[in-house]
Amino acid sequence: MAVQARALVSLGLWLLRAGLCRCQDPGDSADRAAFQPQSALSDVEFAVASTYRGPGNSDTRGNKELPILLWWSAGLFPHFPGDTERVDCALSSCLVTRNRKVQLHRRTSAIIFYGTDFRAYEAPLPRLPHQAWALFHEESPMNNYVLSHGPAVRLFNYTATFRRESDYPLTLQWLPTLEYLLSPPAVSLQEKNRWRRAGLAPVLYVQSHCDVPSDRDRYVRELMKYIEVDSYGKCLNNKRLPERLEDTATATEEDRQFMSFVSRYKFHLALENGLCPDYVTEKLWRPLHLGCVPVYRGSPSVADWLPSDRSAVLIDSFPSPRALAEYLRALDEDDAAYARFLEYKSPGRATNGRLLEALQSREWGVSDMSRPNYLNGFECFVCDQENRRLAAERAHRRAPNTRPAPPPRMADNSHMGCPVPSPGYGPIEDIPTSDSWLQMWPQDYWQSLDQAEGLESLIRHNESDPGLLWHHIQRLAARRTAGR
Ligand SMILES: *[C@@H]1O[C@H](CO)[C@@H](O)[C@H](O)[C@H]1NC(C)=O
Ligand SMILES: *[C@@H]1O[C@H](CO)[C@@H](O)[C@H](O)[C@H]1NC(C)=O
Repeated sequence: MAVQARALVSLGLWLLRAGLCRCQDPGDSADRAAFQPQSALSDVEFAVASTYRGPGNSDTRGNKELPILLWWSAGLFPHFPGDTERVDCALSSCLVTRNRKVQLHRRTSAIIFYGTDFRAYEAPLPRLPHQAWALFHEESPMNNYVLSHGPAVRLFNYTATFRRESDYPLTLQWLPTLEYLLSPPAVSLQEKNRWRRAGLAPVLYVQSHCDVPSDRDRYVRELMKYIEVDSYGKCLNNKRLPERLEDTATATEEDRQFMSFVSRYKFHLALENGLCPDYVTEKLWRPLHLGCVPVYRGSPSVADWLPSDRSAVLIDSFPSPRALAEYLRALDEDDAAYARFLEYKSPGRATNGRLLEALQSREWGVSDMSRPNYLNGFECFVCDQENRRLAAERAHRRAPNTRPAPPPRMADNSHMGCPVPSPGYGPIEDIPTSDSWLQMWPQDYWQSLDQAEGLESLIRHNESDPGLLWHHIQRLAARRTAGR
């Protein structure tokens, strides 16, 4: 877990750096226009070829013959320290680079984007017909709603997202191992009951990111009318953390003392910041690990991934916060019923075949140095797919009658497709217009659709200046108004 947390922290730093790079490089697009594609690689430095070669890889081509994969989100480039590297994947090899100078190079066969970073007004244009686009987006849908709209996600040929439908699914990215789930409860039920008698609430809430699309605080605020909740974070705060724990509460690291502090609670409110199928984070897995019962709202299909059919309380199966509170109160008073929620930790009782299968078969590891991380894994997935496509295209050119051209492939809405944010509690009509959630998230979602359509239009018109995005958006809007 520590490794994963570190990876995430460094990911954040990289992103920050990527952002800085863009700011310091205002001449980038002018530079690109003047650029001579054929000589692009002459000033690109090669790092030493990587050491690992996949078992099915007998690719003997030299670096100058390999297809190039360009990481458009340079901050995520999963190699160090160079800008360009040869990767020898399971079946074939590629050059990977974060040097944008190769954007228009004829050998640049794919461009890889990081979803959180993807901006329509900075897209690499013109889009060359021979270039595939690959999307890596493991983070919350709230980071970029553009990708939740068909016109944008269909621009990508390969995806790695949290959705099981994506080409390289990252659904269980926050779950290190099965053992993590099965470890015995950190605090026994007898002890939890003692803490209850000593004044601890049955339910815990620790949240410091309050204005989010899932509008979770509106739900929790209502729930708190019917059951006692100890709330330690910035959101709906009613309790103070011991001083020692104050800066660990929001950290990704699983601080030992913090973990034992929270594991005394019977129920943990676990509400994701954005609601989307298969967007499931440590908010679910951590209480399961500790042996506390998650009270969950997030992916509507979360039951598909739970260790057993009774291991979490799903908010959406209750008609109201009040009904949920009644259920939790009853469980709080019924030790046998509560204990049944932890039965999956007994040998052989984690019975969800889909979960077990997915953990078995994923090729990337979480905190597991013996397996690739999912950035390198996806890069190699794209590399092997592209080499296969290029080979099929060559075969087709040589024998058009006997070897059909490879069919195009592209993503669809099932690779992301998160719904418009809706209120955490109650009908939207009841929310005052001054409400900050209302002002922010539904609008953000629909403006993202405008951007998705604008980008699609830019590409359809073979524009080479992404700065024309606003112009295209206006034109589409004018057309809609005119009813055409
Ligand atoms: C990639 O997707 C684009 C846009 O959807 C499509 O036009 C193109 O044919 C696809 N390319 C491949 C190689 O499948
Ligand atoms: C698209 O634009 C590029 C340069 O901006 C040009 O080379 C190419 O021929 C154009 N493609 C089409 C289909 O018009």
